[in-house]
Amino acid sequence: MCGIFAYVGNDNQSVLKAVRGLKDLEYRGYDSWGVAVKTPQGFFIRKETGKISNIPETDFEKHEGTMSIGHTRWATHGGVSAYNAHPHFNRDKSLVVVHNGIIENHDALREEIAAVFGNDVFRSETDTEVIPLLIDICMERGLSFENAFTEVCKKLHGRFAFVALHKDEPYMLAARDGSPLVMGLAEGEYFIASDTPAFLDYTNEVYFFDNGEYAKISKDAVTFFNLLSGNHVEKKKEKILWEKESASKGGHPHFMLKEILDQRELIENTVRLGGPAVSKAAQTLEKADNIFFTAMGTAAHMGMVGEYLFSRIAKKSVQAVYAAEFDKVLPFINKQSLVCGISQSGETADLLEAFKTTKKKGGKIMSVINVRGSSAERESFLSVPVNAGPERAVASTKAATAQFTILTLLAYALIGKRMQGEKKLTNASHAIKKWLTQELLIHISHIVETIKHNEDLYVIGKSVNYPIALEAALKIKEVSYIHAEGFAAGELKHGTLALIEKGTPCVVLVSNDEYKQDVLNAAQELKARGATIIGISPEAHPVFDHTIVTPDLENETPMALMISSQILAYYLATLRGLDPDKPRNLAKSVTVK
Ligand code: AGP
Repeated sequence: MCGIFAYVGNDNQSVLKAVRGLKDLEYRGYDSWGVAVKTPQGFFIRKETGKISNIPETDFEKHEGTMSIGHTRWATHGGVSAYNAHPHFNRDKSLVVVHNGIIENHDALREEIAAVFGNDVFRSETDTEVIPLLIDICMERGLSFENAFTEVCKKLHGRFAFVALHKDEPYMLAARDGSPLVMGLAEGEYFIASDTPAFLDYTNEVYFFDNGEYAKISKDAVTFFNLLSGNHVEKKKEKILWEKESASKGGHPHFMLKEILDQRELIENTVRLGGPAVSKAAQTLEKADNIFFTAMGTAAHMGMVGEYLFSRIAKKSVQAVYAAEFDKVLPFINKQSLVCGISQSGETADLLEAFKTTKKKGGKIMSVINVRGSSAERESFLSVPVNAGPERAVASTKAATAQFTILTLLAYALIGKRMQGEKKLTNASHAIKKWLTQELLIHISHIVETIKHNEDLYVIGKSVNYPIALEAALKIKEVSYIHAEGFAAGELKHGTLALIEKGTPCVVLVSNDEYKQDVLNAAQELKARGATIIGISPEAHPVFDHTIVTPDLENETPMALMISSQILAYYLATLRGLDPDKPRNLAKSVTVK
């Protein structure tokens, strides 16, 4: 979690760039924020709780300096408070640090610091604070800022990306070991950030930091080094193809709505751009003895969708497993195994941990990712990009549909029918484009008006629509804070039915398939106990109290059911007065275990 932004260049109002950059990174954490700019008088530091998006730029204009760092926080160690917000500093505030990740041995390091400086030196409850204080100790012992920085990096256990700045040095230092960090390169300017949208206004040329590397950045030059050996590292410039525009709200009140509507063009795009990578991946999947899809949250639900698709379309057995529960399958990982990670951000800590253990056992790793250059992609010998474009709302919507698309294509490619798959998906894409209109949004918002005060909601589906039911429930609880549960229609009678009362809203997902009657029967049982049935289906059925009609897309109908449930979740949030883009307690990318 957390967003880092840093700037070195010729702009004397660099702090404004930091503030703007942080506003673009707020999706990574938004409980507090802080900036520091190096001025001729030393550092100007401001740290606050709340969202930086609410702060006017005019507040910072008078603090001039060409080097700034900033941070937007998702609290892990220590509560949400201004003193726990970054930047953190040393005793005399001559050096400042912003950090993303987790320092697992911070307790031991605190003791080490206390033995030198005493206990009063700590000003926060964070793990991060040990970094500037340890650098301080090393510098007091005579090391240069740079040598102190590398010494401290070697002491840290866990995952980190951090940037440090000293008031007397003309350069900035940035290191990565486990958490994402990327450098943007413009004329006379360097940007360092956790993610590229923070500087896409200025440049799309980047260097990605690899684990175990640090960079020394001054106004005129940047050099990368290996943290352990100190050897110089040659970096390759890469180009980011995302447009800044695609990372903005495009006139919509929320990113979530904008990203839901992006799905009008999405599937066709994903199909068009994904072909060659899909074919390559299919060849590998074909040869693998045992295949695992692993992921978390929404991506894990898409992994479960993939499990069904591979079974139905390709007759290939695959096991979907939460990355955090990967140990369950570890005994079965060997040289013939293929572990396919699915991740929008490519930075989910549990996924990266699953990759690590797979590698130790000799298994192969591939990934289905959205963010190019992400850790998941860099750890994989093969990756398939879903090309959903930047996803900024915490709730994953278009990335999920794009993952669904790629998994469908992979299933078809496995039986040598990629073109047939492409055709079916392109047709589905056109139908979704026609259907996903303003009228549909209004219709769903009217349904939501009737259920928005309920505090419990259930979603049922069967076959592929079972993981879609799980996903619908996740989306609803994540943004509306309504207790929502998804389950397999057949499970209803085995416990959950006891919870149904008069007026309990139940969302019933029905495709026009061989399971239709089973699901309608389950809906009937819910209705008999007083439930209000919201049917999402290609056609209305008498058991539904409200119907969201989707196009009939055969095997791809679940995509339209999922999009409908995303819209339902969006209106449940907004009509309850909540901001769906920044749900409480959550952040977009979960980079801690
Ligand atoms: C989705 O709405 C969630 N915010 C969350 O479950 C997410 O899908 C999960 O954290 C996985 O993220 P990733 O795709 O970036 O790995």
